[in-house]
Amino acid sequence: MDSSSVQAYETVARVAAYDADMDLMHPNRHKMVDVITAVLAAAAEPRLVVDLGTGTGFLLARLLRRFPNCRAVAIDGSQQMVGEAKSRLGDLAQRVEFVIGDLRHPETLGAATGVADAVVSAYALHHLNLEEKAELLGRCRARLKEGGWFLNADLVAEEDEFLEGLTQEMRVAGIVERARGRDPRFPDAAATRRFLDDLQRNECDQPQKLADDLRIARECGYGHVTLLWKDTREVVWGGVRPL
Ligand SMILES: C[S@@+](CC[C@H](N)C(=O)[O-])C[C@H]1O[C@@H](n2cnc3c(N)ncnc32)[C@H](O)[C@@H]1O
Repeated sequence: MDSSSVQAYETVARVAAYDADMDLMHPNRHKMVDVITAVLAAAAEPRLVVDLGTGTGFLLARLLRRFPNCRAVAIDGSQQMVGEAKSRLGDLAQRVEFVIGDLRHPETLGAATGVADAVVSAYALHHLNLEEKAELLGRCRARLKEGGWFLNADLVAEEDEFLEGLTQEMRVAGIVERARGRDPRFPDAAATRRFLDDLQRNECDQPQKLADDLRIARECGYGHVTLLWKDTREVVWGGVRPL
């Protein structure tokens, strides 16, 4: 697949270490999945959810356990990551249709309209630029039933250089602290910064400003677009396909 954001996730070492690395670099992922699950639980219980950039199935597993009558379509470009997701899910995978494909390509999402109760995503859409994300949001809106939620847990860039610098300092300090000198990649702030810069370049990370994410969601016709949770550069936001 012609996408370095996907190729990076075909690397055996990256995939094998992925969930441990996420806990070290993004411990908020647990809280962020809680927020998505709580919103869906407060709405009508979902029967069909589409998960964009499923990866190793962290979010998907939580949703399938929480909603036993829910089926899912799980989309990712990486065969390796989807392989890990299937291992994690075990019997739960029987309720999942896996699609290997590029989220930027219209055919990946399928043609059926008005079928999904929710479209969700975690830590995946920051691999797309704003235009690609807007196109995807539009296709997801068509896939949703009226009243269905689009919920995105992801990274954002800050509004200005000062705040971006501050959150990056906090990000690096948090990783060094959690690594406790036991991970050779993160002995101190300088080495951690270099590691993160390489990782982001390799995986084509391009987080957008929150205001831009919310704006394109509104422009794509979602209603009740709102920020549901935020901690420095990690957010959960969502919007509803209007009735
Ligand atoms: C950081 S991982 C997130 C995985 C998972 N959702 C989680 O919360 O841990 C990003 C995932 O998005 C996938 N991805 C990145 N760009 C993609 C694209 N253009 N099309 C499909 N999948 C993509 C990668 O293969 C990877 O599995």
